[in-house]
Amino acid sequence: MDILIINGPNLNLLGRRERSIYGDRSFEDYLKELKALYPNDTISYFQSNHEGAIIDQIHAVGFEIDGIVINAGAYTHTSLAIADAISAISCPVVEVHISNVHKRETVRHHSYLSPVCTGVIAGFGLDSYRLGVEALKQII
Ligand code: DQA
Repeated sequence: MDILIINGPNLNLLGRRERSIYGDRSFEDYLKELKALYPNDTISYFQSNHEGAIIDQIHAVGFEIDGIVINAGAYTHTSLAIADAISAISCPVVEVHISNVHKRETVRHHSYLSPVCTGVIAGFGLDSYRLGVEALKQII
């Protein structure tokens, strides 16, 4: 299977950013472990702090690969444009969050992406990404 993980804004700072919420591990470090769990699958990674770049990436792969795991960061709560990009493509998309957004500020409870994603995983730390990959493998 060919899967792309997309991380949105500020997630390049994982390991250094608000460690009490997001942990002390960089995503690059975690990704090595995740890839090792799935030696027969291709797991690629894209991160951007820019909404348009995330949309371009969704367009670039969304008709070609088997699935996307996306943590759009704060764009989750603001971006109708990323939601439209997800609606436009043909592969399944799983929305993930490191933190349990529903336990946090009210502004984080609403997601523009959830209604257009296959499903949502939130609150399991970095393991949310592995659970997202597992979910894709179940439905593809
Ligand atoms: C996040 C939750 C968002 O509310 C926040 O803006 C993030 C990270 C998470 O993974 O828990 O940047 O998506």
